[in-house]
Amino acid sequence: MGIMRTAAAAFLAAGILAAGATASAQTTVKVGYALAPNSHYGAGAKAFEDELARLTGGRFKVEQFPSSALGGEREMVESVQLGTLDMVITSTGPVANFVPEVGITDIPFLFRDTTHARTVLDGPIGQEILSKFPARNLVALAWGEQGFRHLTNNARAVAAPGDMRGLKLRTMENQVHMTAFRTLGANPTPMAWPEVVTGLRQGTIDGQENPISVITSARLHEVQKHITLTRHVFSPALLILSPTVFNRLNDADKAAFRQAAAVGSKAMRDFVDDVERRGVAELKAAGMAVVEGIDTAQFQQALAPAYAEYARRFGQAAIDRIRDVK
Ligand code: PAF
Repeated sequence: MGIMRTAAAAFLAAGILAAGATASAQTTVKVGYALAPNSHYGAGAKAFEDELARLTGGRFKVEQFPSSALGGEREMVESVQLGTLDMVITSTGPVANFVPEVGITDIPFLFRDTTHARTVLDGPIGQEILSKFPARNLVALAWGEQGFRHLTNNARAVAAPGDMRGLKLRTMENQVHMTAFRTLGANPTPMAWPEVVTGLRQGTIDGQENPISVITSARLHEVQKHITLTRHVFSPALLILSPTVFNRLNDADKAAFRQAAAVGSKAMRDFVDDVERRGVAELKAAGMAVVEGIDTAQFQQALAPAYAEYARRFGQAAIDRIRDVK
């Protein structure tokens, strides 16, 4: 009896110890992103968090830092590279400064539609680009997305390339985008996202460009009068992990992170699909003047010198390979 009691006590103690060990073995993963929790990035981060907890029995706990709490996207990618931040959900905007191969996805009018973009990014071309990250001390877990980017401004209704002339336009810190807007006659002003709304409010910039998902979640209708549905460039996003975290994981946990990122990406895409269905009507109701579309061929023609530069930079064959994906 005594022996049994001792054995039971030892068993219990071992259980408590094991539980204690499990609790203390929980690893926190800090994830930063630029937008609010009620955005497509917030949806992606939440789905990532839930799936990672499910797959690892709660051994990894995600702590979210939304709304640029940890700085602009370039700064967050830098922190992930240095290992002072574990993970970032970011647009491709600043990423080409770290992994130049990403820049090809930022070429205007490259992707015909969302299906084309998703097929390319999830297929061999997209995976080849992701495979370039480790050499730059970053681990790209998956592509996410924001939708097609559109132009907003306070100066005038933009319908034709000529209307862009002289517009002081905030762009991302991205050479491909800057080349495009310079070629169209605008005055591209690269700026980190946390400064943009203030810049628009104070009039230091006339306009900016972002997808409906961003324009609605950041409430840009409060600081912008005109929107033109230009669809001038598809805006992929990326879920990027620090190698400091990734290299410590065993193979099963590495697979769990990748799987959780795929689920996060799907949540982001579902959110974008939904907001694209209703967002323009909401912006109109909020008082924005909407130019419903543009003559894409006219803009492509005006961009001819920019396309020549992209061909020199990325190779025409690589660009055509993306265009040719059915
Ligand atoms: O315009 C940008 O910088 C990006 O699209 C944003 C809004 C930070 C989301 O990634």
